[in-house]
Amino acid sequence: MDVAGEAKKLLEKNRRVTDGYQYTIPSEEHYPYQWLWDSCFHAIILAQFDPVSARAELRSLLSKQFKDGMVPHIIYWTPGILHLFRWGVEGTSSLTQPPMIAYAAWEVHRRSPDKAFLESVYPALLAYYRFLVEKRDPRGHHLIGIINPDESGEDNSPRFDAPLSAAPDISYKDHLALRARLVDENTACNFDAALCMRKFFWVKDVLFNTVLVENLRALGRIASFLKHADGEHFADTHAGLIAGAMREFLFADGVYRSAMGADYTPLSVATWAHFAPLFAGLYSPEEAEALVHGQLLNPETFYAPFGIRTVSKQEKAYRAGGFGDNFSWRGPVWMAAHWFIHRGLLRYGYKKEAADIRAKNTALLERSGFRECFNPETGEGQGAHGFTWGALVLDMADESVRYGT
Ligand code: GLC
Repeated sequence: MDVAGEAKKLLEKNRRVTDGYQYTIPSEEHYPYQWLWDSCFHAIILAQFDPVSARAELRSLLSKQFKDGMVPHIIYWTPGILHLFRWGVEGTSSLTQPPMIAYAAWEVHRRSPDKAFLESVYPALLAYYRFLVEKRDPRGHHLIGIINPDESGEDNSPRFDAPLSAAPDISYKDHLALRARLVDENTACNFDAALCMRKFFWVKDVLFNTVLVENLRALGRIASFLKHADGEHFADTHAGLIAGAMREFLFADGVYRSAMGADYTPLSVATWAHFAPLFAGLYSPEEAEALVHGQLLNPETFYAPFGIRTVSKQEKAYRAGGFGDNFSWRGPVWMAAHWFIHRGLLRYGYKKEAADIRAKNTALLERSGFRECFNPETGEGQGAHGFTWGALVLDMADESVRYGT
């Protein structure tokens, strides 16, 4: 299979233009709208061979930004195709997703320099990260809260079973019902973070905060390049503060864990989020070594024949899954998780291990095509067909990503 050729074809096939805005839908049959972190992945991939489309993707993503700076996680460009949850407002959701936008914008510029593009998106980027830092951290502890598991991008991850009071063997359908109830609750508290967190779902997520740290650094780079000293100061200061708070509140016994509630109760289910902080360089080299050899490459926990399990094999949630078609984030391999891990490994100099992850992605695409996620033990595809994240493999050929290290 010509993986690169197929990946490019899929991105073109899933390209849409509405009201003059060009964007890519993650999958025709399952996800016919624009999603936040998906569009950032699309922009990062397109940056390699079609910078014009990469820039268009980010412009359309930012076009529905709220007045307070929030960027919604879904834009329903053509409403009515599919009945997903209605997350609050007309035309978009009222939740957000891992804030990859500044990183994607810098990647697009890095590969194809365009100062005018950066200038045009900079005010929206600054407003979005200010929103996260100011509105999502009501206690001023420098850890950003999510008000719904969907904001983590890992909708039904067992990481969130405790705050949702879900059992390890909960079915996909029952989990969806719990999240639908939470959306009603989010609507009742008007998506106000302080209120929603206190009353319904109060989680400081490792992946979300890791992504934020690395994106604030990217924003700092953009601001510095554009000579916006205030923005650079804001971004660099908060990247440091959040990284520090993650160390203080989320790190214990060699790993970062998400936490819930006022007193940062650790969420103990072991998921691939343990590896996410590699992406932002938040582990020391010694900690990274212990984590990579003790967990990432350990067949009894995360290392499977077809990739890195999103949930450790030792977890009840993993064993309870049975890998039915909609099992989603409770164990299967996801290409985006692989992409973050791949960049994290390269950052610490684990070239051989990174090449192995990339080879596993290629093997999965050859065996099962562009599916949403994959059974880690057999490589069988699960969920949506024609799902764009497989195209991330194009970005994993490149070992030149050195900035930040
Ligand atoms: C699923 C994934 C989420 C993604 C969305 C669109 O809901 O869990 O991360 O953004 O699909 O692809």
